[in-house]
Amino acid sequence: MIKNELFFLKEASEQEVENAYDALFKEMDSESIGYYILPESDMILKIEAFIDSYDFKAKGIKNIVVIGIGGSSLGTRAIDTLLSHTPQRNSRKLIFMENVDPVEIERNLKDLVYEESFFIMISKSGGTIETTSHVKYIIDRFDAPVDSERFRDHFAFITDEGSPLDAFGEKCDVPCFHIPQNVGGRFSVLSAVGLLPLTLLGYDTRALLAGAKVYKETFFAKQESALVQKAYYYARHSKDFPINVLFSYSSAFSAFNDWYVQLWGESLGKIDQTGASVGMTPVGIIGSIDQHSFLQLLIEGPKDKTVTMIKIKDFQKATAIPDVKLPQLEKTDFINTHTFNELINAQCDATMQSIKDQGINVDSIEIEKLDTYNVGYMIMYYEILTSLCGHFLGVNTYDQPGVELGKVILKEKFAK
Ligand code: PA5
Repeated sequence: MIKNELFFLKEASEQEVENAYDALFKEMDSESIGYYILPESDMILKIEAFIDSYDFKAKGIKNIVVIGIGGSSLGTRAIDTLLSHTPQRNSRKLIFMENVDPVEIERNLKDLVYEESFFIMISKSGGTIETTSHVKYIIDRFDAPVDSERFRDHFAFITDEGSPLDAFGEKCDVPCFHIPQNVGGRFSVLSAVGLLPLTLLGYDTRALLAGAKVYKETFFAKQESALVQKAYYYARHSKDFPINVLFSYSSAFSAFNDWYVQLWGESLGKIDQTGASVGMTPVGIIGSIDQHSFLQLLIEGPKDKTVTMIKIKDFQKATAIPDVKLPQLEKTDFINTHTFNELINAQCDATMQSIKDQGINVDSIEIEKLDTYNVGYMIMYYEILTSLCGHFLGVNTYDQPGVELGKVILKEKFAK
């Protein structure tokens, strides 16, 4: 479970709260937006059946290579990074082929044994240039022509039904999982996009879905008015506080922060119904590390930010700072015998207090412990928060027209 506390005014009227619930309910009920019902989809059954029939263990698959970018990779990366310390995680290596950085590509593939690797090509549209370029390179480098068993046996595709990639999969007889048409890339982590790689890594993806389902149901039972108030406040004051900082107190959140940045950036940075450019710039930082960096800007810089502090109540690791006294450093001894868990959370609380004291609007999220259930819960929390912000900003949360222009220009460059 997660506990969310707002330390700023709840300004939305009962009617506005009600309207927001209704707007999201309408999106779900009309099936125009599909991420809400992913926790109930039967995709997990298809994935489990595929994993059983393929027999990854017997085939000696040690590497799972996810080839995809943006919404096709960030969610999986976020969940794996949050949970990689848990005993569920098996020893398979997870490799992401995202960026077309030639040095990174070489680093990823240098020691990769093709026979021990399973490649999951993920693209909702089916034709993203980074993703197709990676696949072409892998086919060539590992001598796995598309009509060979060597290719067919080591690849699966995840895409929209009817996309060019879907057609390619059919032609080459590669197993293909579909993303529902009404689920956008950045909202797709609970579809096959996340479920296939995460299940292959040993995670209890059923618990992930269960956590997401419970949060969704709690929300639609209208028991989450604090979330509605938070979104209302952010949207209403987005001109005064155009930056939202997610201050996450654990290194495990590094990729979650990236996922949140994409989710907010691509969903909320839009032109609204009146023709005005709106949005809130998402910034993800890590405590306690960024207390020694970004915090100064928060405290004394422009008061143009709202801040969410995330902490984990129980890290399930009782490592303590030993009662060791260092000559001349006696002033640090107050922490001796306390656990690192206590230290990081006390730092979170102290920093939050100092931010609050500056009159900055803060809310706190406390996660009981990092497990698949709670992570699923939190994923749905953030997705619904994004939809609510989009509703209050008056934008289309689910499209991304702004990224198209660069793609057209790129094509023109190569056509010359
Ligand atoms: O959220 C989105 O829609 C985007 O970030 C896409 O996921 C990203 O551009 C990759 O697109 P595709 O999955 O079609 O390859």
